[in-house]
Order: sequence, then C-alpha cells, then structure tokens
Amino acid sequence: ARLPMPELAPAGTLEALREEAAVCNRCPLHARATQTVFGEGPFDAKIMFVGEQPGDQEDLAGRPFVGPAGKVFDDAIAQAGIDRSRLYVTNAVKHFKYEPRGKRRVHQRPNLGEVQQCRWWLKLELDLIKPKLIVAMGATALYSLTGEKQKLEDLRGRAIAMEEGRVLFVTVHPSYLLRIPDEERKAQELARFRQDMNLIKELA
Ligand code: URA
Repeated sequence: ARLPMPELAPAGTLEALREEAAVCNRCPLHARATQTVFGEGPFDAKIMFVGEQPGDQEDLAGRPFVGPAGKVFDDAIAQAGIDRSRLYVTNAVKHFKYEPRGKRRVHQRPNLGEVQQCRWWLKLELDLIKPKLIVAMGATALYSLTGEKQKLEDLRGRAIAMEEGRVLFVTVHPSYLLRIPDEERKAQELARFRQDMNLIKELA
C-alpha cells in the first residue's frame, strides 16, 4: 500500500510556521520540554503581546499564558476592555526551561543564547502578523524584540517608534507581579500594570 502524503499547511501561513516550530531543535531546550508553545491568535491581529517563555502549565497545554501568569494577564486586559481573542500572544522563547526538583519543575530563565536562537521564530511571527503595536512584557521580551540590553523602567509605559511604522510598548512581566512578597507593593504594581493595559487600549 502507498503511504498517504502527510498533510502540510500551505507555505507562508501561520499554520506552516507552527508546524515547523513544533520540531524545532535550534537550542537544547526542546529536549526536556513537552512541546513547543508557539504563539496564538488571529493572522490579522493588530496587537502582539510577547512574554518570556512558557511556564509549567503552558508546557503541558501547548498554549501561551494559560497558567497563573496568564490569569494576571487575562484579568488586566479584560479590565482595560481588550479582547484576548483579537490579540496575538507569544513568547520570546518557545520551550519551557526548568530544573526538576522532586515532583516540581522549577522555572529557569532562558539564557542569552537561547533567546538569540528563538528570535528566529519571533521574527517570522512579526513578519507574518505585522502587528501595529507590539507589547514587550518583561526584560527578555524587550531584549528579543530590540536586540539590545536596555533597562525596562527607562522605556516603560509609552509608545516607542520602531521600524516599519510599528510601535513598541514596554511593561513588566505578569509573573514578576506574582513574585512580589509585600502585599501593598504588589497591589501598587498590579495597578500600574493595569494602567499600562489601559494605555495599550488607547494606543490600539
Ligand atoms: N510566562 C510567560 O512568559 N509566558 C507564558 O506563556 C506563561 C508564563
């Protein structure tokens, strides 16, 4: 019997890119991760949000921002009146990096080489989606998007012109908010993150 031809998504589509990324081995992170967590959202999204890398739950689900950080993100955009289904949501690094500790998998920050390798995919996503507004959440996303090590606080909270008429907006990463131990400070920082989402809604 003849083997059926595998069904491949048409070249140049988001689905084709997703299929290619599913077998990515450009860096060692693929070996331990469950799967590639590629970006998600409509092809004609006007806004692209970029995080750091998938966490434990994202790794299992195969979707970005579905765990605790995703909850902070979802709540903040919802209060600003931003509809997640119209956004393209992705990460600078597409595999979960962690250290096994007993039954737990403890998140580890991706290093510069890993971010550098994965910029390949982020660039292809940008070329395909062509968002008007790109939101960098956290220092890793900022580095991946600009290729420069810059201080997040220096750039946070305003529209920054990029090439091809795009606008970059920089804010903190939602996981950072979850890690603040002091309740009062946490509430302040959360309010500021929400304010950033309101600014994004106005810019969009
Ligand atoms: N943190 C991220 O940066 N991305 C996710 O998808 C989840 C948590």
